[in-house]
Amino acid sequence: MYTTLATEKRNHTLIITLNRPDKLNALNQDLLKELKEVIDNLQEDADILGAIITGAGDKAFAAGADIQEFIGLSEEQAAEVSRFGQQVFFAIENSHKPIIAAINGYALGGGCELAMACHMRIAAEGARFGQPEVKLGLLAGYGGTQRLAQLIGKGKATELLITGDQINAEEAYRLRLVNYVTTRGELLDKCLEILAKACKQSPLAIRHTLNAINAGYQNRNGYANRNGYEVEAECFGKAIVSEDGKEGTTAFLEKRKPAFSGK
Ligand code: COA
Repeated sequence: MYTTLATEKRNHTLIITLNRPDKLNALNQDLLKELKEVIDNLQEDADILGAIITGAGDKAFAAGADIQEFIGLSEEQAAEVSRFGQQVFFAIENSHKPIIAAINGYALGGGCELAMACHMRIAAEGARFGQPEVKLGLLAGYGGTQRLAQLIGKGKATELLITGDQINAEEAYRLRLVNYVTTRGELLDKCLEILAKACKQSPLAIRHTLNAINAGYQNRNGYANRNGYEVEAECFGKAIVSEDGKEGTTAFLEKRKPAFSGK
């Protein structure tokens, strides 16, 4: 159905594989469009409660935006390319369902930016991260200048963004860019394990939580430029009066497992 992606449903998780292994899964425009479509559809599919994004082949998660497509772009066209990439990654960041990046090799440039747009990142040993755009005379254009600083702090982000240096999985873990480092064989299982735990919770509570976390950042999710604590309180109010909120609190007091409906 897709030409640049492969998708597979496992229980309530959708595994999305970037599927251009001969080009190290470089993110061309077709791939970005298909990815946006998958993420949008995911929001509507009640049976899917979370997703994993990973790369095909054994070398890369994604080695960046497709450099081939940059050749000959006008200033306006390039700005549009950047805006479109940002829009796709906003859709991931603002997904109502948690999305984990399973990083199985190079996550460079747009690949690193894609991983950073996901709610969490888990790396396999041997994974490598970096924003090498300066080496091409460019800069990160899919949100990397913003999200890298949010995730690892301004100083270290600036160093990586202006040197183009790569870091390995252990360093990424030390900098808190990734939550865990696993063996290659355990990478997907670790992601599935985390999502399985989340899937047991109220989908509505998860949606509110993701909204509240995002509200602290300027990410155009409808809560942009608002005080994160204020949005958190507002979402807390909404959750309390929801069916899931009532069911969860009542079930606790009745010493039984809650049956969440997502309403
Ligand atoms: N855009 C387009 N094509 C890319 C690409 C990218 N970002 N990254 C890799 N490829 C292509 C290569 O051109 C090559 O294609 P070919 O076989 O048709 O020549 C293929 O993927 C394999 O890459 P190759 O460079 O031969 O692999 P390698 O193992 O020697 O090196 C990297 C791996 C990741 C170090 C190297 O591919 C690289 O530096 N890629 C670009 C990283 C980058 O600058 N990203 C930011 C882009 S804005």
